[in-house]
Amino acid sequence: MKARDVINIILKDNHQSPQKNESEAFAPNNIALCKYWGKRDKELNLPVTSSLSISLPTKGTKTRIIAIDSQKDEYFLNGEPVADDTLFTTRAKHYLDLFRFDKRHFFRVETHNNIPLSAGLASSASGFAALAKALNDLFEWHLPDKELSILARLGSGSACRSIYNGFVEWEKGNEDDGMDSYAKQIKTQWPELRIGLMVLDQKEKPINSREAMERTVESSPFYRTWPNVVAEDLKNIKHAIAEKDFALLGKTAEANAMAMHGTMMAARPSVVYSTSATLAMIQKVLTLRKNGLPVYFTQDAGPNIKLLFLEKDHDRVCQELKDVEVITLF
Ligand code: PMV
Repeated sequence: MKARDVINIILKDNHQSPQKNESEAFAPNNIALCKYWGKRDKELNLPVTSSLSISLPTKGTKTRIIAIDSQKDEYFLNGEPVADDTLFTTRAKHYLDLFRFDKRHFFRVETHNNIPLSAGLASSASGFAALAKALNDLFEWHLPDKELSILARLGSGSACRSIYNGFVEWEKGNEDDGMDSYAKQIKTQWPELRIGLMVLDQKEKPINSREAMERTVESSPFYRTWPNVVAEDLKNIKHAIAEKDFALLGKTAEANAMAMHGTMMAARPSVVYSTSATLAMIQKVLTLRKNGLPVYFTQDAGPNIKLLFLEKDHDRVCQELKDVEVITLF
């Protein structure tokens, strides 16, 4: 099954050319508390396991898309033109090719991110979710969130969760066409919960998540246990959210991130995203917790650390960890 076939299923006889000159959309970044790591279908970004995240309502991507009379797309990132041979342009163009139907349409895409790119801070998630939303408006498809989530997934797996705010679960689904693999919002709100962003390194990551996942699935001797780890962690995280059990949420999210990194470090060759600054920060969080401060961490495909804590511990966390950027989630 090709991505284009999925788009045909979703759009049926819907508009196949832009109905407006331009449109704009915002999508939040999301941080997985139970990670997605490994695909069962690389073309459609279908995952091996389900996953669960929390969206950062103020951090993400704002994208303006304009239908242009040209022979080629134009891409701008944070106000600067982006060259043709970059990963950004290649991925965006490949995605937009899916929507060029019978007539060749070209677009000018203006993207603004307020979070560092490619440093494991999920910028591709908010990027493709914002692009899917902006296309939905430009073509006037009026798609429900379920279909938008599937369209976003075709750009980047974790983007399917960035269609929503709050807690979001991506159910892996079983179908070959992936029409049952999309994200849903969990209605529970947890206003006291905080995420702390610790940007330790803004450099581009050594290996992108697509290649790293592929290598892990193919060569890590630990990958066969990963689906069982996720099944158990997902159950505990959903229970922790329903019961507002912060210790259970924190310890499960932290252990899940470490299991993911352990699994990828065992790949051959090894996939290592942590730097010495990452490890020092992990040690610091473990020590703070040992000394009675309830703070936990998670880490994605990059060296940066995201903290999990409660509003009541805000001042102590900021005192101990000077450069933390605190995000209110609800
Ligand atoms: O959607 P991708 O290909 O950027 O992969 C995301 C992978 C992690 O961020 C490490 C985990 C996750 O569930 O978001």
